[in-house]
Amino acid sequence: MAEEKKLFKVKIDNITVEVEPGTTILNAARNIGGEVVPPAMCYYSKLQGSGGKCRTCLVKVTKGSEADPRPMPKLVASCRTTVMDGMEVANITSPEVLEARKGVVEFLLINHPLDCPVCDQAGECDLQDLSYEHGVSGTRYEFKRRTFEKEDIGENIKLHMTRCILCYRCVFTADQLTEKRQHGILKRGDASEISTYMRASLDHTNFIGNVIDVCPVGALTDRTARFKNRVWFLKPVDAHRECSDPKCCGKTVLWMRGDEIFRVTARKDKYGEVEGFICDTCRFEKKEVKDWIVEGPRKISRHSVITAGHYVGVHKPQETVAKVMDGRQPKLLMDIHSVSEVNMPQVDLSQIDGPAHSTDFPKNKGVQ
Ligand code: SF4
Ligand code: SF4
Ligand code: FES
Repeated sequence: MAEEKKLFKVKIDNITVEVEPGTTILNAARNIGGEVVPPAMCYYSKLQGSGGKCRTCLVKVTKGSEADPRPMPKLVASCRTTVMDGMEVANITSPEVLEARKGVVEFLLINHPLDCPVCDQAGECDLQDLSYEHGVSGTRYEFKRRTFEKEDIGENIKLHMTRCILCYRCVFTADQLTEKRQHGILKRGDASEISTYMRASLDHTNFIGNVIDVCPVGALTDRTARFKNRVWFLKPVDAHRECSDPKCCGKTVLWMRGDEIFRVTARKDKYGEVEGFICDTCRFEKKEVKDWIVEGPRKISRHSVITAGHYVGVHKPQETVAKVMDGRQPKLLMDIHSVSEVNMPQVDLSQIDGPAHSTDFPKNKGVQ
């Protein structure tokens, strides 16, 4: 009979979970799920060696283990610290952790541009979400921010180094998925930058497009989709195809408006990690509906603006006329549409893709 594996009992934010020895605190928290999961900007479960760079996942170990209950003297990176039996950890229950996380976000934003309104990553950007949830509204930084020229690093990928947070995910992706890594982090300290070796371009491999999906910010974007639309105007649809590359999972999300496919990405889970990597042929070359077997609308589980425009489970506002009239019903109700065409759409608004434009309404006389 196979020997039963001893599990370690860990308490995170007062919730107990049992995990295998060798599990990191971050993954133990993911086993619990919900708000106790620390944010992670550099760790990526599908990439070996990732983590330990961004410090957003810091937590406080208040009890080291059953055998040695002393707390750890400093906050630790939960993606790199493995659990011990009897360990107790504080994440959102620790004001110290929340304060430190604020500081980390401030550091990540020190050189970051205020590009969100024009950035292709906006709406699905981990840094945007992190700043919103853990950041502060102002900056104390008074020095000149470092900036870089945008670079085409290959036929399909744009690098905007100013937005990079040096998480190394793209470097691990190129290392582990492609035959020949041609980019990396050059220089050291505050001079570090992502760049290609001698400006070589990232074209000669069929899996390099995955760097776009793993990049948590808008530093690496898809040149075939750049500036063509905003992510919240597109409908994400699950689709698959029989891909001839055995390393490609062939399962994708098509970002569509009407019948037009604006971009193709891998499917991401609730932690923003891809479920399976896809090849460049599927990503950049299959932009026709006939290339795909469409499965249906994708449920975006993250609390992003992408889900915000989908009117599921809408509660209609209550009828208030009688209420404001002390329970009396009005004798006469005037229908504004019978006297004016203002706000009278020419089309059924629930049938159009994306927001309504002025062209969906009649020209209102006297209204500019
Ligand atoms: S990378 Fe994210 S935070 Fe930075 S400009 Fe783009 S959307 Fe905004
Ligand atoms: S380009 Fe993106 S994935 Fe690569 S190190 Fe910078 S932030 Fe990370
Ligand atoms: S996710 Fe742990 S250090 Fe970045």
